[in-house]
Amino acid sequence: MELEAAIRTRRSEHRLIEPAPSDEEFVDLLGWAATAPDHGHLRPWRWILVRGDSRTTLGVSFASGATDAETVRREMRKPLRAPLLATLVFVPRRNHRVPDWEQLAASSAMVNSLMLLLHDRGFGSIWRTGSPVDSAETRTLLGLAPHEGLIGWLYIGSPDPTRRSVLRAPGTGQPPGLPVHAGGLPGAARPAPAHRSPAGRHALTAGGTGGRSAPSARTCLRGHLVPMRCRAQ
Ligand SMILES: Cc1cc2nc3c(=O)[nH]c(=O)nc-3n(C[C@H](O)[C@H](O)[C@H](O)COP(=O)(O)O)c2cc1C
Repeated sequence: MELEAAIRTRRSEHRLIEPAPSDEEFVDLLGWAATAPDHGHLRPWRWILVRGDSRTTLGVSFASGATDAETVRREMRKPLRAPLLATLVFVPRRNHRVPDWEQLAASSAMVNSLMLLLHDRGFGSIWRTGSPVDSAETRTLLGLAPHEGLIGWLYIGSPDPTRRSVLRAPGTGQPPGLPVHAGGLPGAARPAPAHRSPAGRHALTAGGTGGRSAPSARTCLRGHLVPMRCRAQ
């Protein structure tokens, strides 16, 4: 699958069934996913793979904070929604020149790559968090050290063929209220010289209509191969 097609067609899959990747396949894919940008090459994470009956035990820990029978039942069933629950543990390198938030950003980048790689192999996944990430019982069960963060589970399996995931409409990524600014520094006192900023100031909106007076994408982007339209500010 081409990368662009993989990005376009990946969706978080809520219903996952067997098969899931083997431990070996997961580790193999992780090796590639871990090539995602990672300031300092710290790889500040570790994974705990939970399958089979261990999911039931995990569910009991999910339910430990519940106060009514219905919530207990619901929480206990949560880990059964996929054959493999890959637990993501954030292991920040403390007192490092790379701050925690960058380490967390690197972990996120790795997860996105992993989800795309899984999708490319025909597997589905969804990153889930919720109240269990703060559960003391769950942390104990997973053997987390005090400085380690539980940042969720990648629920992994095969997409349920009876449920078709909704494909994205083109260009739905960028929120309409947050156009990409191009063509100059928004806070600068004076606009950049014309020869430096031939396109002027424009707000770029991925896939948007750009308004009636929108210059062409070529005018906005000056050769950048990005399918965006732009709107004069
Ligand atoms: C850090 C993080 C935590 C998430 N936690 C949950 C969650 O607890 N439950 C859930 O249904 N989806 C969760 N998601 C998945 C998002 O709901 C999902 O990515 C979003 O709905 C967009 O769907 P898409 O991936 O198909 O575009 C989480 C995603 C991220 C990045």
